[in-house]
Amino acid sequence: MSDFGQAATEISLQNTLHGVWLREGGRLVGMGRLIGDGGAFAQVVDVAVHPDFQGQGHGHRIMAALVGWADANLPKGAYISLIADPGAERLYERHGFSHRTGMARLVP
Ligand SMILES: CC(C)(COP(=O)(O)OP(=O)(O)OC[C@H]1O[C@@H](n2cnc3c(N)ncnc32)[C@H](O)[C@@H]1OP(=O)(O)O)[C@@H](O)C(=O)NCCC(=O)NCCS
Repeated sequence: MSDFGQAATEISLQNTLHGVWLREGGRLVGMGRLIGDGGAFAQVVDVAVHPDFQGQGHGHRIMAALVGWADANLPKGAYISLIADPGAERLYERHGFSHRTGMARLVP
């Protein structure tokens, strides 16, 4: 996953709409976040499971928690998007996401 640096990461985490952090014995082993305006638009970001803990259903648990929160707390019709890394599409499809055309740009 990309390293945005300490300052950007602190701002980013403070603006989380809803976050899920999985811990095993105090050690962070997985996470996922929803960001957005709380009304019309939200985005799933930072979904990751530590390599030692992958393939055990934690990705599904993270996505179920994020989607469950969104369904319970965001207005009907809110648009939730994400950019899936290659290999992760199946995980997101299982939680109701479908392919759309997306574009992105990095701040130079
Ligand atoms: C993508 C990721 C979050 C999945 O987490 P996970 O805990 O391994 O996922 P789960 O065990 O809940 O399995 C989720 C799905 O991914 C599949 N999967 C799990 N590990 C996999 C692997 N190593 N290779 C390919 N598919 C895998 C599973 O088959 C499952 O699909 P299914 O239920 O339809 O069979 C994790 O692999 C990861 O952190 N990858 C690196 C970071 C990343 O790519 N994040 C996504 C950014 S968009």
